[in-house]
Amino acid sequence: MGTGLALRLAAAGLEVQVGSRDPERSGEVAKRLNSLLQGRAPEVTGSRNHEVAALALAVVAVPYEAVRATIPGLAGELAGKIVISTAVPMSFASGRPEPLHPAAGSAAEELAELCPASRVVGAFQTVAAGQLLELGLRLDEDVLVGGDDREARQEVATLVRRIEGLRAVESGPLATCRYAEGLTPLLLRLNRLHHTQTGIRITGL
Ligand SMILES: NC(=O)c1ccc[n+]([C@@H]2O[C@H](COP(=O)([O-])OP(=O)(O)OC[C@H]3O[C@@H](n4cnc5c(N)ncnc54)[C@H](OP(=O)(O)O)[C@@H]3O)[C@@H](O)[C@H]2O)c1
Repeated sequence: MGTGLALRLAAAGLEVQVGSRDPERSGEVAKRLNSLLQGRAPEVTGSRNHEVAALALAVVAVPYEAVRATIPGLAGELAGKIVISTAVPMSFASGRPEPLHPAAGSAAEELAELCPASRVVGAFQTVAAGQLLELGLRLDEDVLVGGDDREARQEVATLVRRIEGLRAVESGPLATCRYAEGLTPLLLRLNRLHHTQTGIRITGL
């Protein structure tokens, strides 16, 4: 997910750094992204999670189970920043995607508890990372954007719109992220049933 978002955001002209626990790994990812971008975008760079967390806006794209281990050590750097939660709490019980139910209400709210001085916004939970990585593929779906800080939410909605083919739909407070997160196991089941990649579209807006 992090690689896919980095690719699409860089292609939209934004300056992007990818983070990792291991800078060699993020350096490799940055190299791969730059070769896909073929010089048509600002150069993507790779560094440690700590360095990326200190930038203007950070996207947390680690597995839900890793959020609790990753964020407390970065909370200082993330203070005051907009932090996007992409995590979907789910398990693959006997191979089937099933939603998990975090005590905080959602993965995004759990993230907000772990970095209380940050402006946490949930987004991209229903977007398939594989689709983002296919740069030639035109996206055509909505992204729900939920967050308690209205200004931060609007900034993230603007960021989402920078990616061609994505429409941002503000869903309200951070607590609404539980609905976006809960849709993903269903989308994965639909993908399997209909042999395709599904996304969401909200009508009536
Ligand atoms: N994949 C999708 O289509 C999709 C769709 C919607 C939402 N999401 C959400 O996006 C997030 C990332 O998904 P993904 O599929 O990109 O995950 P992933 O490939 O399994 O992991 C992404 C990165 O997280 C880091 N990581 C893995 N385990 C970790 C651990 N135990 N502690 C700290 N860092 C760890 C690794 O980076 P380093 O080893 O380089 O540090 C890894 O490359 C998840 O929360 C997922 O629910 C994914």
